[in-house]
Amino acid sequence: MVNKLKTVTFVGVEMNHFKGLLLVVAVIFGCVFTINAATAASTSDDVKKGEAVYNAKCAKCHGAKGVGTKSGPPLIHKFYHPNHHSDVSFYWAVERGVRAHHWNFGDMPKVDGVSKDDTALIIKYVRAIQKQAGLF
Ligand code: HEC
Repeated sequence: MVNKLKTVTFVGVEMNHFKGLLLVVAVIFGCVFTINAATAASTSDDVKKGEAVYNAKCAKCHGAKGVGTKSGPPLIHKFYHPNHHSDVSFYWAVERGVRAHHWNFGDMPKVDGVSKDDTALIIKYVRAIQKQAGLF
């Protein structure tokens, strides 16, 4: 009889632990999910902002959605894969311009009125459309 009581208590304790564990797991899941959702939202906001700056400052040569024009090369191109042209090359291109070396469009002049933050947004946009196009 005594033995039986002990067993019941033991199971009760175990159940409480189990519930506690479930709660902890649920809370962790909740946090991770919330953080992920927030990051995804701010990333797509940045991509949209980047698209606006890109369209205003880069699209006349690099084309809408990076497809290129008669005045500049496409950015949806393996030359501009992140492993070949890292993000730094974008900051330099905007700040200093680019001497023609891959194509025959002539030099890219430096682009005025685009801050480092703007360029960071442009990079997010360009990487997003490169990814969409299956470049990586
Ligand atoms: C007046 C036309 C023109 C505009 C405007 C322009 N580009 Fe370019 N861009 C070029 C040309 C032409 C090249 C290719 C040079 C080459 O490699 O032959 C180039 C190359 C680049 C490269 C490759 C750099 C490298 O190291 O090879 C990047 C990155 C780039 N442009 C980003 C931008 C961004 C971002 C903007 C807008 C802020 C922009 N460009 C606006 C014409 C332009």
